[in-house]
Amino acid sequence: MSGTRHLDWVSRPVDAVHGACLHGDVVVPGDKSVSHRSMMLSAIAEGTSHIRGFLEGEDTRATAAVLAQLGVSIEAPSDGERIVRGVGLHGLRGSHKPLDCGNAGTGMRLLAGLLAGQSFDSVLVGDESLSKRPMRRVTDPLARMGAQIDSQDGLPPLHVRGGRPLQGIRYELPVASAQVKSALLLAGLYAQGSTEVIEPHPTRDYTERMLAAFGWPIEFSPGHARLEGGHRLRATDVVVPADFSSAAFFLVAASIVPGSSLRLPAVGLNPRRTGLLEALRLMGADIRIENQGESGGESIGDLVVHHAPLHGIELPEALVPDMIDEFPVLFIAAASAQGRTVVRGAAELRVKESDRIATMAAGMRALGIRIEETPDGAIIDGGAIGSGTVHSHGDHRIAMSFAVAGLVATGAVTIGDCANVATSFPGFVKLANGCGFALS
Ligand code: S3P
Repeated sequence: MSGTRHLDWVSRPVDAVHGACLHGDVVVPGDKSVSHRSMMLSAIAEGTSHIRGFLEGEDTRATAAVLAQLGVSIEAPSDGERIVRGVGLHGLRGSHKPLDCGNAGTGMRLLAGLLAGQSFDSVLVGDESLSKRPMRRVTDPLARMGAQIDSQDGLPPLHVRGGRPLQGIRYELPVASAQVKSALLLAGLYAQGSTEVIEPHPTRDYTERMLAAFGWPIEFSPGHARLEGGHRLRATDVVVPADFSSAAFFLVAASIVPGSSLRLPAVGLNPRRTGLLEALRLMGADIRIENQGESGGESIGDLVVHHAPLHGIELPEALVPDMIDEFPVLFIAAASAQGRTVVRGAAELRVKESDRIATMAAGMRALGIRIEETPDGAIIDGGAIGSGTVHSHGDHRIAMSFAVAGLVATGAVTIGDCANVATSFPGFVKLANGCGFALS
């Protein structure tokens, strides 16, 4: 799908000499994790669910297209709105064609769990990047539940065999992963007995919260979840909060460009997502939360960020799972900070949409930044960011992070292969330029 598209960006420094800076309100799109889950649960619920704030990104649309291919009627009356006529737990129909998850690891891993409990076979495929991502982390525990999923030596495509009776298990995750936890819980809906997941560090709990909202009895607390098969999901309305991971680029951008101030309204503030907020505050950032409230059972608030000089930190390892998607942009904050930043305990970054440690290190070196790669992190010395050309390797978050770097570089930063930004944040360029970026 996206492996063949190429789109390069040029990010130019804002003209600090003439007092240019970032300012205004930036309304970021809906949360990717919540959007995927809202679509999957609505599809297998009984009745019609109305989703608002659905992310119009390629990843989440791919999940919707897969469910439509499996017989679910989904209407899109307006941008961000979906009306899903659920078919019930056993109402999906098999498809002879492969189910294309695009670039989405979340889509593929969660669907593997959901499809393991069906009566029909399915084949899950993905783009070039997704085809290199490890799947044994879901296929191994699902096999222990009785599923049969054939992979290509641990990689997609996944051939999920239907008609296997599933049995609940108690599983201690070797790596903290909300995707693996969620895949097991979704398979657990179809299993005999109890499915219990224990995590080494708590991860985002959207699947647990949403299952409860759809009426499925579930026990959960940070790091633990347990449910039993044999219940039903009842359609409900879902309001998707704005994605903290999309807000993250603007939090760093306004922090590092002198004179800037931005407001990001109604962003999802689930504590399992906001590790970057704490990390940036430890670095000296000035970020406040205003109008805090609740929407669709999730905590939300306006993030108000003003420029502040940043300094390097030793990142507390406990923050890593709560900011797992924010490291590319944290690396840019570290490059613009005074002194040294050390990141450890983040080996998972090597198996994201790209190897995010290697991709960031290569790009940062091309811009003259001193960065030493370690197996599970990096040591970054803050200093001047030079101009040059970097490659995103088709990784959306790397592309947007270097667009932020360009704001404070000594000259233009050219970023290769940015088309995949549409997977998570299709309107990024427009929003960024609307608040003062010079991105073309
Ligand atoms: C996600 C979980 C995380 C995250 C990904 C979205 C989810 O992946 O990196 O972007 O929606 O469950 P892991 O479960 O692999 O840590």
